[in-house]
Amino acid sequence: MNTIEKTDKYVFNTYGRIKKVFVKGEGSTLWDQDGKKYTDFLAGIAVCSLGHSHPAVTETISRQAATLVHVSNLYYTEPQAELAKMLVEKSFADRAFFANSGAEANEAAIKLARRYFNQKEGNRRYKIISMKQSFHGRTMATLTATGQDKIKHGFEPLVDGFIHIPFNDINALKEALLDDTVCAVMMEPVQGEGGVVAADPKYLNSVREICDKEGILLIFDEVQTGMGRCGHLFAHEIYDVKPDIMTLAKALANGLPMGAMVATQKAAQGFAVGSHATTFGGTPLVASVAITVLSIISQPKFLQDCRENGEYFREKLNSLKHNHPVIKDVRGKGLLVGMELDIEAGPIVEKCLEKGFIINAIQGNTLRFAPPLIITKQEIDSLIEVLNGIL
Ligand SMILES: Cc1ncc(COP(=O)(O)O)c(C=O)c1O
Repeated sequence: MNTIEKTDKYVFNTYGRIKKVFVKGEGSTLWDQDGKKYTDFLAGIAVCSLGHSHPAVTETISRQAATLVHVSNLYYTEPQAELAKMLVEKSFADRAFFANSGAEANEAAIKLARRYFNQKEGNRRYKIISMKQSFHGRTMATLTATGQDKIKHGFEPLVDGFIHIPFNDINALKEALLDDTVCAVMMEPVQGEGGVVAADPKYLNSVREICDKEGILLIFDEVQTGMGRCGHLFAHEIYDVKPDIMTLAKALANGLPMGAMVATQKAAQGFAVGSHATTFGGTPLVASVAITVLSIISQPKFLQDCRENGEYFREKLNSLKHNHPVIKDVRGKGLLVGMELDIEAGPIVEKCLEKGFIINAIQGNTLRFAPPLIITKQEIDSLIEVLNGIL
């Protein structure tokens, strides 16, 4: 039985997989089992931001694996302490909680917002406002927070206390807040799975003002947009708007499973000993890798290159518009890039794969590009040439 047959027979059938088996990666290049080479414009869905087999990541994994992998959060370990310090020093936050995925980080954020108000004023405020077309994960609370029906289908009854409003519509937020049992607004500064749709700067500033006025918490889900993906360490820096709570995952440990929730001291007071926990959160292994990743990605030159290459990429995609009227829109921030078409995007993904380029389709008609942040202009040029041919 080959790998595809074995997977299809023994693994739960929850993924619509493309029939390719990958065996090796280096930088922005992946190889399949037939030795065919691909340029990776997806990075494991915005995860391997330093590329595959980055020497510093490989060295950190090997060193830490040979030293200490796990002891449990009943004790202290230096990599977790140092990573929390770094995240705090590089963000608005005062404290970090470590989880193992984006959904878990968001679950922690939802629990923190609820418990913060529960400690302050009992059970009165518990509702979370989130956005239509948002994506926050697949646990029961995070799929309820998610603003896409297809994710929730068949899992009813959902978790109580979530309100969905249209994204980028400040009046909808004001109206939803006529309900005074809301404890937080939860949103992505740039919706990723929802089609690479950025918040309008005026809107995001007003959301912050309104949350302050109402005395409720603002949660930014930066699971996809954080860690340099949008050309700044965190996407909210583009807007100069700070949340009370932020969640991270995906690129945090360049492919090792890790999530984090960071919060201001004020919001963090919602949790005490025993409020929340996870066995694997912030193990020495994943935390040391995240330290390495954060040290590299947070360098100003690294982020500047990411912004420049993102702009270059969007310019090149926009230039395809002249010849290809099927392109409706090119958008995104940094190296999180979307191209909306007025045809199905799936066949374009397949054709790109045939030509040795890995890209992705979301929302039926949008191509999503989230390459390793080390992608070069030459690699971008090669993809543009191939897209030009295919379109
Ligand atoms: C914005 C956002 N939040 C949460 C998640 C869920 O993360 P995970 O798949 O690690 O649970 C994702 C995953 O795509 C995401 O894009």
